[in-house]
Amino acid sequence: MAASRGRVLVVDDNELNLRVLSDMLERSGYGIMPAIRPEIALQALEEAIPDVVLLDVMMPEMDGYELCRRIHDYPGMQRVPVLFVSAAADSESVLRGFEAGAVDFITKPFQFQEVLARVRTHMELHQTRQRLAHSEKMAAIGQLAAGTAHEINNPLAYVMSNLSMLNAYGMQMRDAVTKAFDLLAEYGRKADPDGWEDRVRTIRKEHDLEYIGDDFRPLVDNMRDGLKRVAEIVRGLRDFAHPSNTKKTEVDLSDEAERALELAHSELKYVSEVKKELAPLTKVMAVPSQIDQVLVSILVNAAQALEDRQDGEIVVRSGEDDDGVFVEVRDNGPGMDRSTVDRVFDPFFTTKDVGKGTGMGLAIAHGIVDDHFGRLDVTSEPETGTVFRVFLPKATKNFPAE
Ligand SMILES: Nc1ncnc2c1ncn2[C@@H]1O[C@H](COP(=O)(O)OP(=O)(O)OP(=O)(O)O)[C@@H](O)[C@H]1O
Ligand SMILES: [Mg+2]
Repeated sequence: MAASRGRVLVVDDNELNLRVLSDMLERSGYGIMPAIRPEIALQALEEAIPDVVLLDVMMPEMDGYELCRRIHDYPGMQRVPVLFVSAAADSESVLRGFEAGAVDFITKPFQFQEVLARVRTHMELHQTRQRLAHSEKMAAIGQLAAGTAHEINNPLAYVMSNLSMLNAYGMQMRDAVTKAFDLLAEYGRKADPDGWEDRVRTIRKEHDLEYIGDDFRPLVDNMRDGLKRVAEIVRGLRDFAHPSNTKKTEVDLSDEAERALELAHSELKYVSEVKKELAPLTKVMAVPSQIDQVLVSILVNAAQALEDRQDGEIVVRSGEDDDGVFVEVRDNGPGMDRSTVDRVFDPFFTTKDVGKGTGMGLAIAHGIVDDHFGRLDVTSEPETGTVFRVFLPKATKNFPAE
């Protein structure tokens, strides 16, 4: 699984170079995807998308220029920065590199500090660009969501309230009809002792009155359930577009994790083990109710992923570094393949049965964490499990004035 700073694909046919570069970057907190041959690099892309690629130019089977083109052709890789590492630093080679799609050139023999600085710069640029693209997409969807939610909300409100009335009227009518028939039967019997009762029974039967009377209430209840579900989706859309409470205060993220665990209790009680590794943290500025919502969504997802498992385990861990504080939720559930991981934050993406998930949980969570200038990261491996990590920055200088 990738370290949270980002993943670097390192391609070099020289084993020593590969090891030195990989070790150095790993020590600095990056997740490494090492590849000693071009086809191993291409295969590695099946498993995970890196944030930066370090590419040796001279390789026997396929030169770096060609590999660079192929890497960029790979789905999801178009914008991932490729840095060439080469002993050939003449201007022609450098130009060829840029033409092939490289963003930077590191000459061999390299200086560790220089490689690190360049990787860090391109990593940050790439991640910022991705976040911006994601925010733009979310803003557009948010606008659409807000409009749609508003439009659906009014008819929904009156259909809901009319349905209650309809139910009451239906029950009243059923009782009135029953009474009227009873009365008819009673009086009719006097007038026509032999045929009357049969005639009343026939009318009731022809019009299915018993069945309608019995079925009316379940039918309305069913409709009400359906409408509740629509209301839930509309609420999700509205939360996504305009989170309700937006007042930021100083919070300890570990306290919020405790609260989220309590809030999600009813879902978590079926998980065989929930481990807490929470320590007091430096306080950061955040909207507590929103952060709770993020953590509850993640916890509920983890619990749902562990459904039917005897040995299901969730570990909730908090920590901090110089830049910020984090809470991590780890489960040993079925995990996700790459194409699923790529879509978890998309609005309405769900793999759950109809009626079980709206697919808005993580989209809303991501929007909230963005609004906090934080990061919501996910790493997952099929059959091993999933980790969601909420990271909030300590520096508050970027927060807009409340
Ligand atoms: N811990 C996890 N393990 C495995 N898959 C997960 C996990 N968390 C999320 N997912 C996947 O991500 C999808 C999207 O999650 P999200 O919370 O956004 O929606 P949902 O849970 O399906 O519906 P809801 O709107 O009710 O939350 C899920 O349907 C599931 O496929
Ligand atoms: Mg969910």
